[in-house]
Parts: sequence; C-alpha cells; structure tokens
Amino acid sequence: MFTNGPMLLQFETAFADFCGTRHCIGVSSGTDALRFALLAAGIGAGQAVITVPNSFIATAEAVVQSGALPEFVDVDPTTCNLSVNKLREYLSAHCRREGEGHLISRRSGRRVTAILPVHLYGQPADMDPIMELAEHHELAVIEDACQAHGAEYISQAANRWRPAGSIGRAAAFSFYPGKNLGACGEAGAVTTDDDELARKVRMLRDHGQAHKYEHAIEGYNGRMDTIQAGILLAKLRRLQEWNQQRRSAASRYRELFAECPGVGLPREPDYARSNYHLFVIRVAERDALLEHLGEAGIGAAIHYPVPIHLQSAFRYLGYKSGDFPVAERLATEVLSVPMYPHLQSSEQERVVEVIRNFLPTESETARLAAVS
Ligand SMILES: Cc1ncc(COP(=O)(O)O)c(C=O)c1O
Repeated sequence: MFTNGPMLLQFETAFADFCGTRHCIGVSSGTDALRFALLAAGIGAGQAVITVPNSFIATAEAVVQSGALPEFVDVDPTTCNLSVNKLREYLSAHCRREGEGHLISRRSGRRVTAILPVHLYGQPADMDPIMELAEHHELAVIEDACQAHGAEYISQAANRWRPAGSIGRAAAFSFYPGKNLGACGEAGAVTTDDDELARKVRMLRDHGQAHKYEHAIEGYNGRMDTIQAGILLAKLRRLQEWNQQRRSAASRYRELFAECPGVGLPREPDYARSNYHLFVIRVAERDALLEHLGEAGIGAAIHYPVPIHLQSAFRYLGYKSGDFPVAERLATEVLSVPMYPHLQSSEQERVVEVIRNFLPTESETARLAAVS
C-alpha cells in the first residue's frame, strides 16, 4: 500500500486526464521518468539523442543512463528553448545517411534516434516543426516536461492548444517540491498515448515485473510513494488556478520591468502559454545583482550557471567553450526572480525597485558607451 497503492492509480488517472493523454505512470522522480521513457522508446547503447545544453543536468544524465549519448543543439536566444533552425542545420549538415537509411551523427558516428526538447522555465518548445523534422528523420520525440505542468502549445498541425507532455511519443514530468505541481519529496511521471510504451514504463519502474516475481525485463526500483500520489492528487485540483496566478504575476512583472532599462524579458511566443514555473530576466551584471538582491532579502537564483556541455561530468563528450554560444551567453545573464502563485503585486514592485536602483540608468549606460 505504501508504494503503487490505490491512490497512485487515482492520481495517474487524474494527471493523464489533465494532460490529455491515455496514460500516466507515476515514478520516483523526473530523472527516472526521463530514463524510463527513453528506455521504453527503445533508446539504448550506441545511439545519440539530440537535446539542449541549457537544462538541468538530469536531462543529459537520463540519456546516458539509457545507454545513449547526448548531442547538443543550441537554443533560441529569445525563448531559451531548442532552436528549430539550429536543429534543421544539425540534421542536414552534421548528420549523414548510412546503410539502411539510418541517420548517423558525423560528430560521434552514432545513430541518431531521438530528440529530447526541454520546455524550459515552463514554456513549451516550438513543437510543430520539431515533430515534423522528427517524423521526416524517423526520430522519437520525448518531451522533457519536468517544468511544464499545465503549459500549453498551440499546434497548427492539430489546430488546437495542446498540453505540454501530450505532443511527443512520451513525456517526463518532475514533481520535485519546487515545481508548479510539487510533492512533499521526490516524485515524477511519464505521460504517453502509446500503450506499449506505457506497459514498458510500468515494468521498468517495478524491477521489470510483468506480474509479481515474474521479471520479464531488467528493471529498476522507480516507484512513486503512495503518500506522494495522495498529496499530488489534492494539489492537482488547484494547479490551473495556481498557474493562472503565476501568469498574472508574470504580466505584472512585464509592466513593471518595462520601465527598467537594461533588463531583458522572456519572450512568450504566440504559440506558447507558459506556466511560468520561473520568470527569468537577462541582465549584464548578473552575479553582482544576485548578491545585491540577497543583501536586500530577496531570493533569486540562476537556472543554470554552467551549461551541461561544460560540466566536468560530461567532459568526456569532448565539447568545449564556444560550441554553443547562445546557451553559454544565457548562462552568464539569466536570473530567476521570485515567482510563485501567491506573490503579491507590492512584493513585485519592491523586487523591481531594488533591481532598478542597482542597474545603471539609461543616460548612464549611454555615457559609459560613449566613453568606451
Ligand atoms: C528540465 C528538468 N529535467 C529534469 C529534471 C529532473 O527531475 P527530478 O529532480 O524530479 O529528478 C528537472 C528537475 O529539476 C528539470 O527541471
């Protein structure tokens, strides 16, 4: 009853309904959700999976743990998500066709089998062209929706808004406590319309069992605690309302920051309805500003200060500084300012005032530019 209990099934049914998918399989973390989704989609040894360098490290860890290796493609500077132009360029210029038509990476010689777009900060990546390219090249698409509970994408192909996590072959969600839908501990889920993939994920999370003590495949201990499912089920009822509150807070930030030169704001393209897991601004003097905010008692953070391709853990992949200029620049400029459903307008005014007082005014910026 403590793991895989009846309340888990209730939560899985409710979250699948929320995402508009046939299946939701609760697991023990977002990282496990990514790993199991990749494994169940057939990703494994000798393969390469395309993803972005500016995500939480778990995105790349899951790829490696499936047996494949990540190959990075740079992101769009205005959305911070996978650049469709760079993806197209990667597929045409950095891959070749071999043998039975397999797509081979010129960089690693590995067969490219999947794309793992990340809906960073809760804003969906541009999924229509990604799905089109994936179909053309016969690649599986697994969405990293770990930050995107309730975010939506308007699909021209489907002529409707689609929830993040319902577009690719499967998706991974994290219910880490700080997420828009957070457990009181670790938890995650895979969503999919694919019956066979769902069946495999159910086995992978539970030691590969098809039935008790019948281990059809080698699996993992990746189950969700029933108590977390109960907490998530209760919180799920409020998720739409909380996301709406975050969206209102994001609009207020946009108004306030409009009069704050030197602050770059996140672009929300027409195709995306972000859940504003994070509200991420861009500033030149980021590290000093972070310290200044801390001194003023305002909690801010950096997501993420070191791109994955420059992390020591992934040195063996052979990437170097300069390989992904957009992701690398973002890592020096992004700053997540306070964002949560019950954030008050007066608190936002104070955040913006502290930032405005710290940054040089427009005339000072012009004077400094003239001097240099
Ligand atoms: C983009 C992204 N991918 C994967 C994960 C991993 O999720 P978890 O921490 O639940 O394993 C996270 C969570 O922080 C995330 O933000």
